[in-house]
Amino acid sequence: MGTLSFTLSIAFVACIVMCSLQYSTEVSEVINHYLPSPVSLLLHNAWSSFGKALASFGIASLSSGNGNQGSSKSILTKDELQGFKHKYLAIVGEIFDVTKGKGSTYYEKEGHYNFFTGIDGTKAFVTGDFTENGLTDDITGLDPSGIRSLEDWRLMYHKEYKYIGKLIGRFYDANGKETEQMLKYKAMLKEGAAKKQAEEEIKKLYPPCNSEFKNQASRVWCSDRSGGIQRAWIGVPRKLFTGSSGEFRCACIRTTGPPSSNLDSTTHNNKGDLDNPNLREYDNCDPASHTCPL
Ligand code: HEM
Repeated sequence: MGTLSFTLSIAFVACIVMCSLQYSTEVSEVINHYLPSPVSLLLHNAWSSFGKALASFGIASLSSGNGNQGSSKSILTKDELQGFKHKYLAIVGEIFDVTKGKGSTYYEKEGHYNFFTGIDGTKAFVTGDFTENGLTDDITGLDPSGIRSLEDWRLMYHKEYKYIGKLIGRFYDANGKETEQMLKYKAMLKEGAAKKQAEEEIKKLYPPCNSEFKNQASRVWCSDRSGGIQRAWIGVPRKLFTGSSGEFRCACIRTTGPPSSNLDSTTHNNKGDLDNPNLREYDNCDPASHTCPL
């Protein structure tokens, strides 16, 4: 079983437990903190219909909000937004009506995600920190990939819920014009997209290995489609060091032809990436083997 399958199996079990406990706050908060947000959004998409099925069996039948009627204004202050607890939420300065839509029951009074309503808790969509301090629109400290996953959430709300308008504050001014912070958000989004593209390129050159834990033993191995990269070569596992902190991941590397850093070279020594100093052999593994024990 590959790493992805293993992770999904763990997530599957976690979700079953969470759902069967009717989304117990204690359990979910523990899990939330340990799952990266892109994974959580993926899980939500996958489990959306399951959640709906549970709701239709009455498991998520909850009471309604505070009785406020909708607002006709398209620009609200923070105080005004607070008056729409259990009805509206804001993310990156945009306000949505969450009373109707795919997961609306989760925002009602007893709903698991009711704490997002009446405020802009942007940062918590990435950190999973649902405390009073964590539920903030201050995105300081988020990196471009965090901003990217925030953008996924923002787009999800546009797709699934009714857009109401803008919130005056960190991202929009009283005239609904974008603030400095909003421009910074957009710049980081661009940076995140460029980073993702670069990561995809690296993944193609050095495809991730398969991995499994079986019979009390772990191993990594290469195949002609490991890491989801279909290719004409298999490669051998190596530790690919990604930064100065000693972090590495398993990469399948070419053993023949030009190096990945210069694929057009005609004067190479036909050793692929075997001489790349950022790639190291696994201990106790034949350097020519497609599989290595861990
Ligand atoms: C950073 C951590 C997390 C955040 C910020 C988060 C946030 C949210 C939000 C806002 C919703 C409502 C979505 C909507 O309106 O449709 C939701 C729903 C849901 N979440 Fe989470 N969540 C997190 C972690 C998790 C984890 C770890 C699991 C399960 C293992 C999970 C399972 C679910 C499920 C099953 C739903 C219902 C989906 C649906 O009915 O559409 N969440 N989450």
